[in-house]
Amino acid sequence: MVLWPSSSSSIFFLLLLIALSFTNEISSLDENELLSLKNLQWRNDAAYRRSPVFSQKSRVTQNGATILEMKHTDFFAGPMMGWAHKLEQRLVSDEARVESIQSRIKNLVVQESASSHEIPINSGIKLQTLNYIVSITLARRNLTLIVDTGSDLTWVQCQPCKLCYTQPEPLFNPSTSPSYKPVPCSSQSCSSLQYSAFCGNNNNNANTCDYAVTYGDGSYTRGELGTDRLLLGPTPVENFIFGCGKENKGLFGAASGLMGFGRSDLSMISQTSDLFQGVFSYCLPDTDSSTSGSLVLGSDTSLYKNSTPISYTNLVRNPMLNSFYVLNLTGITIGGVRLQSPNFGKNGILIDSGTVITRLPPSIYTAVKTEFLKQFTGYPSAPSFSILDTCFNLSGYEEVNIPTLRMWFDGDAEMTVDVSGMFYFVRRDASQVCLALASLTYEGETGIIGNYQQRNTRVVYDTKVMKVGFARETCSFS
Ligand SMILES: *[C@@H]1O[C@H](CO)[C@@H](O)[C@H](O)[C@H]1NC(C)=O
Ligand SMILES: *[C@@H]1O[C@H](CO)[C@@H](O)[C@H](O)[C@H]1NC(C)=O
Ligand SMILES: *[C@@H]1O[C@H](CO)[C@@H](O)[C@H](O)[C@H]1NC(C)=O
Repeated sequence: MVLWPSSSSSIFFLLLLIALSFTNEISSLDENELLSLKNLQWRNDAAYRRSPVFSQKSRVTQNGATILEMKHTDFFAGPMMGWAHKLEQRLVSDEARVESIQSRIKNLVVQESASSHEIPINSGIKLQTLNYIVSITLARRNLTLIVDTGSDLTWVQCQPCKLCYTQPEPLFNPSTSPSYKPVPCSSQSCSSLQYSAFCGNNNNNANTCDYAVTYGDGSYTRGELGTDRLLLGPTPVENFIFGCGKENKGLFGAASGLMGFGRSDLSMISQTSDLFQGVFSYCLPDTDSSTSGSLVLGSDTSLYKNSTPISYTNLVRNPMLNSFYVLNLTGITIGGVRLQSPNFGKNGILIDSGTVITRLPPSIYTAVKTEFLKQFTGYPSAPSFSILDTCFNLSGYEEVNIPTLRMWFDGDAEMTVDVSGMFYFVRRDASQVCLALASLTYEGETGIIGNYQQRNTRVVYDTKVMKVGFARETCSFS
């Protein structure tokens, strides 16, 4: 008697479940998004006008979370190049960065050696692939810095400068800042730099902690570690440890330095953990528009403008890779179709704000490409471009439907690639438009989620509980 209603309701729920999963499947099978090509074709150089100054915009909420405006470097001062040349250079640079990340991982996994302690991000800087900037204030001076999740040390070009590249903002001068203090050689901060720190080697003051980060391609930054008062928007950080870079060689763009958001002790997010609880997030705007994004320090979700709930995945705990953010990629769907690859869930995939194009192990890349071509049919193909081998001539179309790409991570977390991050426009008339994904050379290399595929996504890093979250968001700053 008692059993009857209960089993009837379970049958009902079973039917409901079947019905739900059925509708789910139907609707997800033709998942795609419309990309308008008409607007892109109207673009001209005027849309890429650069600004000689990047004025600082920020806000702070009641619980201390701070939001800074974020821009693409294309917006900021620097030499103007032709469209195709710029794109080609960007991909060549991106390849160099990816190679140096791979060699760093290999070295870390094999065993750390002094010469292997190279921050790969910087060969990226040299080649101008690190492309999102914010403005901060160091000892009352506003400075534009590159935001980088792949390295730890924050540094600025510093006086007296032995060798500095040209930057539009005045150089930071520690001697005019009463609050500046060199970091002593004997300090914990100095030893946390490990192989990159030297005590009084090339300096008349044997007590200072000198740092040197050198790179395989000949670029480097050298100087001394110091502390000063940092302002992130209105939020002060006393005694912030940074590199006062007196020899900085390479093409570092127009930025005055770099802000490292890696996971080690000296990184920006570790140094501010009392203020921001180890949480930061960003929304990276579309490169080619003048829109803004935001960098949020702290965990006040009211500062996000996400249109979907944040879905979180745990970081892969690998002590060897303790400054990178590594995720467990468990699957990919294209237009609702789940791809098969024995490689899912095997090696971690890095998420990086400095790499441009997402790199996938060959077996996964091939599965993505095959399924994409199966769904994106009927469009004339175009020659490949640099590392991008899946290209189309779309100049005869005003708009196209692009199958939606979703990446799935451990814990059923999901990142949907925004339609603006699917195609790389090699030619502005859309006669050569390429799928913005590339294959790694070897199956054993580590995949990287690049910034192109992170556009218009709120990416939340919680370094305390070791989680990364994703939500859809149309980036803006207001
Ligand atoms: C630094 O930025 C703030 C905020 O935009 C602005 O009020 C201030 O005038 C700037 N300072 C300098 C020296 O440019
Ligand atoms: C990734 O997640 C899957 C499924 O949850 C698990 O079986 C696998 O061991 C994980 N891989 C890593 C590298 O953590
Ligand atoms: C691309 O397609 C257009 C129209 O469909 C055609 O006129 C043009 O010649 C093609 N361009 C190239 C480079 O193949």
